Amino acid sequence: MLALLLEGGAAWSSGEELSRRMGVSRTAIWKQMEGLRAAGYEIEAVTRLGYRLLARPDAVTALEVLSGLRTRRFAREIAYRESVGSTNEWAKELAREGAAEGLLVIADEQTTGKGRLGRSWATPRGAALAMSLVLRPELPPHEAPRITLASAVAVAEGVRESTGLAAGIKWPNDVLLHGKKFCGILTEMEAEMERTRFVVCGIGINVNLTPSEIPSEVREKATSLQIEAGCRVLRAPLAAAVMSKFESAYDDLVGGRFEEVLARWRALSVTLGRPVRVTSMVGGEVVTGVAEDLDETGALLVRDESGQLHRVVAGEVTLRGEV
Ligand code: BTN
Repeated sequence: MLALLLEGGAAWSSGEELSRRMGVSRTAIWKQMEGLRAAGYEIEAVTRLGYRLLARPDAVTALEVLSGLRTRRFAREIAYRESVGSTNEWAKELAREGAAEGLLVIADEQTTGKGRLGRSWATPRGAALAMSLVLRPELPPHEAPRITLASAVAVAEGVRESTGLAAGIKWPNDVLLHGKKFCGILTEMEAEMERTRFVVCGIGINVNLTPSEIPSEVREKATSLQIEAGCRVLRAPLAAAVMSKFESAYDDLVGGRFEEVLARWRALSVTLGRPVRVTSMVGGEVVTGVAEDLDETGALLVRDESGQLHRVVAGEVTLRGEV
């Protein structure tokens, strides 16, 4: 019903047409309208004209996300809760219980959201997107980080499409606006030696956070879409746009076309061509130089002042000249 009202836009949808398309009685249509109203949708109803949607709530319920979804597999099944500790933790539980690839776990609030390197991640109620996708790729475990690169591409492209803001990616997977981070990605997996059992890709986007909702210790380096755009951004259509971009990048990745993903990543990069300082997660080595390119596996290639090329598989990048 919601999809039909959205499809109608500003035009009226007659009760008769809706009941024909939904295959239910006009009384059932009226009851569904009442249900939507109770859930925060503003619906105008006029005799002989029908119904039209005036406003929708900024909710991230399954109903809202599904109504704008254009994917084939991703997020076709959604597990939603108003409040959870961490969507990654909940998604891992569901994956262990056998959840299928494509299940999207989403919450309006996280009370113990997790960041990379044991840090915490703030997800205040009603302001952020916190979502975790269950994947079951036929990839050896060492190739799983490629999924993180694909997800960063999905967020940057999804934000560009939904808001027009020029989001860029800092290697490997922070998504930035004007040099400040608004999205973090935490990919976790369970695997045996040669077989990946499942991957949970957790995406946190600061959508409508105000400056005071951004934790003070990262306020200098972090931002939100609302702060950058100067207006509120609806979260569910953004989630749907990210899912659609993610699905196409993931299909390339598991279909042996990772080069396509890398090409999309390069086009969105704010790291390549810039002077950087990289702390490698392997051995804690610090490399300073210019970020030259990604190799075919997604590792960052940094050329130091002596002309030597360093290959960084996992690490933290600081763009030089920034905090
Ligand atoms: C980072 O430190 O940059 C990664 C942040 C990842 C946050 C997201 S929010 C959804 C998912 N659930 C979590 O607990 N963490 C990730």
